[in-house]
Amino acid sequence: MTALEKVGSPPTRLEGTALHDWDYLVQEDRAHRLIYTDPAIFEAEMTRIFGGTWTYLAHESEIPKPNDFITRRMGLRPLIIVRDAEGRLRALYNRCTHRGTTLCRWDKGNTKSFQCPYHGWNFLNSGKLRGVPWPEGYADDMHDPKYNLAQVPRVESYRGFIFGTLSMDALPLPGHLGPIAEIIDQWLDRNPGGKVVVCEANRFRYKGNWKLAYDNSCDGYHVAYSHRSLLETENRFAGENAKGMAYYRNSPDAQPMYMRYTGHGNHFKDKRPNLEQRPGGLWALESAHPGMEHYEAEFIKRYGHRAFALLDLAGSEPININIFPNLSLLGNHIQVFEPVSVDETNAIWYGTMIVDEDGSLGDDAVTDINALRMRTQEGFPNFGEVDDIANFEQIQRGLMAVEDEWVYMNRGFGIPGRVKTLEDGTITAPATDEAFMREHFKEWKRLMKARPNFAIQREP
Ligand code: FES
Ligand SMILES: [Fe+2]
Repeated sequence: MTALEKVGSPPTRLEGTALHDWDYLVQEDRAHRLIYTDPAIFEAEMTRIFGGTWTYLAHESEIPKPNDFITRRMGLRPLIIVRDAEGRLRALYNRCTHRGTTLCRWDKGNTKSFQCPYHGWNFLNSGKLRGVPWPEGYADDMHDPKYNLAQVPRVESYRGFIFGTLSMDALPLPGHLGPIAEIIDQWLDRNPGGKVVVCEANRFRYKGNWKLAYDNSCDGYHVAYSHRSLLETENRFAGENAKGMAYYRNSPDAQPMYMRYTGHGNHFKDKRPNLEQRPGGLWALESAHPGMEHYEAEFIKRYGHRAFALLDLAGSEPININIFPNLSLLGNHIQVFEPVSVDETNAIWYGTMIVDEDGSLGDDAVTDINALRMRTQEGFPNFGEVDDIANFEQIQRGLMAVEDEWVYMNRGFGIPGRVKTLEDGTITAPATDEAFMREHFKEWKRLMKARPNFAIQREP
């Protein structure tokens, strides 16, 4: 595929206006309400952030076979993520080149070609126009590449996670991910074959800006208050053995968990130092949920001495890995943030299963583990995410108080020795600090100011 169309950075309504001075709107320790409420800023984010940097699109396990596809978005651009007939991953614009209608109206499927529902133009899954009805009605050469579907010029996968960007200036994906790639490796490598398979999702939509979710993704400050009912349930079941979110009771910064910022807006909150290194250590952290004692007893009955190692494979990894701007790996989940409008966002929690390709676990064990993973995955999205979403909606309302302009992110800021820059340039801070937010906003600002070379691509 060679035909690259340079499109430059698309102009927006913000161009040339004095109003949007990014250094004023986002300062070291505070951000202006407009970045959450202004439709023109949202519009600029949809090109400069989403697609201006590597943006998560889909997981390879959602399109495992040639000709599999799934429809997604990058910002507001509708896309078809496809594994074409040759097995190559592509992100096609889901927009007919004739008059612009949505080409594919299905969520997912398997097909070699897409037929436009409007006038029947037919496209191969490589994006090439295959044919049009009654071509004798066109004087133009219908083999002109301009009729082939636009596609995202750079699509790369890191261990199954498919990302795309329109920026020809962005680093190759592994360099862009940098040190957080190793944390993704750790998240995957505890599973047989170092893999997960994405299954269906819990889907939420909230009436708030997309950044409210990302600002919360590494926030250890809110847990004891926002998730109090869940915490109290866990504490009641846990007794003296603190588990899961119970680490946030009393003084969370006295725990060995921490936040680390790894660059390009990416960070993780690591609760793994709380974990006992023994079979069953991870399972012991699993928060209380209905039926878990029964499952545990069944595992011991069926698998004897292997039971606790197998139960660990069902347990949720105590880490939140956040890849700016729209992906979080937390516990056993893959969470994706999809902006809908300046004050509306989809927050989608994909469940994951393990696979046992070399047969080392045995089929029954994998089925039992995956059944139990579904139960563990019902916990936080059902009982915790609702608390977070309520906060996001209430923040959006609060920010309609136009004269009160600032939100603060200065927890831990200006206290000597509290936030540390390590030798590799990553930054670490206590779990309740807002250092992660101050850092991802530096990346946000860099991208909002940048004018990268954007391109789309078409089959020649
Ligand atoms: S809009 Fe697709 S064929 Fe006319
Ligand atoms: Fe939360």
